[in-house]
Amino acid sequence: MMRVRGIMGHHHGGWWTGMVVWFVCVAVVARGELERFVEAPKNDGSVSFLVLGDWGRRGSFNQSLVALQMGRIGEKLGIGFVVSTGDNFYDNGLTNENDPNFQDSFSRIYTCPSLRKPWYTVLGNHDYRGDAEAQLSYLLRNIDDRWICLRSFVVDVELVELFFVDTTPFVDEYFTDPDGHTYDWRAIVPSRKAYIDTLLHDLGDALDKSKAGWKVVVGHHAIRSIGHHGDTEELIHHLLPVLKEKGVDMYMNGHDHCLEHISDGDSPVQFLTSGAGSKAWRGDIKEETKSEETVRFYHDGQGFMSARFTRSDAEIVFYDVFGEVLHRWVTSKPLLHSTF
Ligand SMILES: *[C@@H]1O[C@H](CO)[C@@H](O)[C@H](O)[C@H]1NC(C)=O
Repeated sequence: MMRVRGIMGHHHGGWWTGMVVWFVCVAVVARGELERFVEAPKNDGSVSFLVLGDWGRRGSFNQSLVALQMGRIGEKLGIGFVVSTGDNFYDNGLTNENDPNFQDSFSRIYTCPSLRKPWYTVLGNHDYRGDAEAQLSYLLRNIDDRWICLRSFVVDVELVELFFVDTTPFVDEYFTDPDGHTYDWRAIVPSRKAYIDTLLHDLGDALDKSKAGWKVVVGHHAIRSIGHHGDTEELIHHLLPVLKEKGVDMYMNGHDHCLEHISDGDSPVQFLTSGAGSKAWRGDIKEETKSEETVRFYHDGQGFMSARFTRSDAEIVFYDVFGEVLHRWVTSKPLLHSTF
């Protein structure tokens, strides 16, 4: 894994322009390039990774069983990394960088050799209920160097690019009706709107610049879901149009504690929920939407997902707590000739 720091655009002009630029950057949230991590595809030209969400419960609620099967499938596929879709530590994220929950729910659970790879991680709403900054801290990498958690960032594997998006600040309810919970909005206030506008701008910019044949966006909250929480209206309004406009192939998320594959009715975007890392079996699937033809797969129970990409093909597989395949979906696209 190679880390490339985001580069802020430099500007020309005298001190006056400089002052104006400085004030704009400080007053609003500085726009810039999303931080980027580079992973190499395997020698056979493919890349595989696992996707897991909503997991950290010190091994309980079958978390350890799912971890074991991830290790087995991870080895079989020769994965390059793991993607975590958030809600990493229950119930309320981490209290600080020394919270033993980090090792109890992560380091001591995902112990299989195949999982000793970078874990690219976003924050979920439960993570924001604790010290969100702690999960982003470099100090955690001293404890377990697999841990790579940022708010929004890019993982570039040449043939596929993954764009991680911090979705929790989009959701109105956490601000207007927090239901007794406190959220760590230190980086989001004073201007939530500026934070979201900047994020969407930087995402659009990164997508525009992407030369990858496959584009995948990852967030915690579902855009489309027939599970407990259902669709996230804020993401349908603000994020989905960007995905459609920029030719994104897949959106991967957690939040609902289930496994789901839903297609978009009027675009190629596939909605893939992998939020079944521990507590599941909520039993409240939305009956009225279950039979919609865009719903290709729904599993109310624990499990995880794998993804494998080559230049021409993509394969998504969902597994249950025993590592049995529940749903497999394969797609391909005509190869575009690369321009050098
Ligand atoms: C663990 O998984 C098994 C098999 O799917 C299921 O029957 C059981 O209810 C699960 N346990 C919990 C606590 O979710």
